[in-house]
Amino acid sequence: QPHTRCDLMMFGALGDLAQRKLFPALYQLERSGLLAPGSRILALARDNADTAAIRARLGDRIKKHVPAGEFDAAVLTRFLARVDYLCLDFTDTDGYRSLNTWRQDSTASLIVYMATLPSMYGVIARNLRDVSCCTEHTRVVVEKPIGHDLETSRVINDQLAEVFNENQLFRIDHYLGKETVQNLIALRFANNLFASQWDQNHISHVEITVAESVGIEGRWGYFDKAGQVRDMIQNHLLQLLCLIAMDPPSDLSADSIRNEKVKVLKALRPITPDLMETHLVRGQYTAGTSAGQPVPGYLEEDGAVRGSTTETFVALKAEIENWRWSGVPFYIRTGKRLPEKLSQIIIHFKPAPHYIFDPDQKHLANNKLIIRLQPDEGMALQILTKEQGLDKGMRLRQGPLELTFSETFDAERIPDAYERLLWEVMKGNQYLFVRRDEVEFAWRWVDQVIRNWEDFGLHPKRYAAGTWGPVAAIAMITRDGRSWYEDA
Ligand code: BG6
Repeated sequence: QPHTRCDLMMFGALGDLAQRKLFPALYQLERSGLLAPGSRILALARDNADTAAIRARLGDRIKKHVPAGEFDAAVLTRFLARVDYLCLDFTDTDGYRSLNTWRQDSTASLIVYMATLPSMYGVIARNLRDVSCCTEHTRVVVEKPIGHDLETSRVINDQLAEVFNENQLFRIDHYLGKETVQNLIALRFANNLFASQWDQNHISHVEITVAESVGIEGRWGYFDKAGQVRDMIQNHLLQLLCLIAMDPPSDLSADSIRNEKVKVLKALRPITPDLMETHLVRGQYTAGTSAGQPVPGYLEEDGAVRGSTTETFVALKAEIENWRWSGVPFYIRTGKRLPEKLSQIIIHFKPAPHYIFDPDQKHLANNKLIIRLQPDEGMALQILTKEQGLDKGMRLRQGPLELTFSETFDAERIPDAYERLLWEVMKGNQYLFVRRDEVEFAWRWVDQVIRNWEDFGLHPKRYAAGTWGPVAAIAMITRDGRSWYEDA
């Protein structure tokens, strides 16, 4: 059911994120009948253009980004009729007065989406306040990166806090909008089978892999200042880690869940200089192949500056110092130009306490839960059964109990992360958004990792594009007598 009527102001409406993700997601909400009658969208950017031209441009982009089977010209027309365009210099306070004129009806709830550089968040917030455009009911959506480190994130958060209360702020981490990521909560807390096994008594270690086959995609300048740790670990990977590791929240409210996540972030063991060689591997890709085609190395990409030591890959061993997870390493790896796009979490359970089968097969004897975030969203529980055949005796075999969402749930369409997140903003539900203290505790941990590797002089190791990162990432886990999970 559509929620309440809302006015949505999209700052940065002609930027890459808005065009590639946000407008297609809004179109999909329209298609699903989730945009309430009377809801309107104001696209804001610096380009001198009129509404008709912008509607035409958005129409083209939506058509390009939405799968052919999901495109419906009548839905698009209905959607574009909601969109107005205003050319605005975001630093020009006077220009903001036109926003009040556009508002028309102040009973519709107001959503402000800042799809701009974070350096603009404070400017936009102050200008909105100065023309009295917002109330304490206005919802404000902001994107990552919230800062470059703890200090700069505080500056941005302070600027937003000058104008808005925390309960008005919706900080996006788009991984939280992914179907399977939310299923982590359902899996863990709706199934006592897992809830009762979810600790150091039963789990030996956890793996999280977020691999991308793409390279830097024309973003060299931005990426080189960030690197994979700031771009991916500080937000997406730590969020996944929190959802796996947090204690059961007492209810599904935003603060109950976020309180538990913060406790995990606080309990992360620092990666001190003495752990640099065993707990952290940085990598940078060199020329290689992607989907069978030759591709350049990171330092040969367009706009690259020679000699950069920014990492495009990182593998690390995170440890959580609390009762639940003491002694259970979380092996995490993420990188660009890896062999495939694949995000998955593997929970490795401990073996049965007493083993009575073929000694040669002892290495097989532990259950694994594989949670696939993308592609092919689903879960598989690897269990042990007996091999079939009279001559096989009690030889063991590992096989999956498989749940592929698209097959099991009759090919229902899985919404894009941004669709769900925009929908939650419209409903005013913050549980899939990141609270200020989460951002700051994540930065605190990441900052010390970076500071320590800089002091230590830990340089990235080379890996060829199209491989699974530097060999040191494999050594990191084999040193502990384990290996990265590979689908047999
Ligand atoms: C973004 C990062 O937040 O997430 C990108 O800035 C990365 O570097 C992207 O490519 C990955 O998102 P997804 O949804 O494609 O896994």
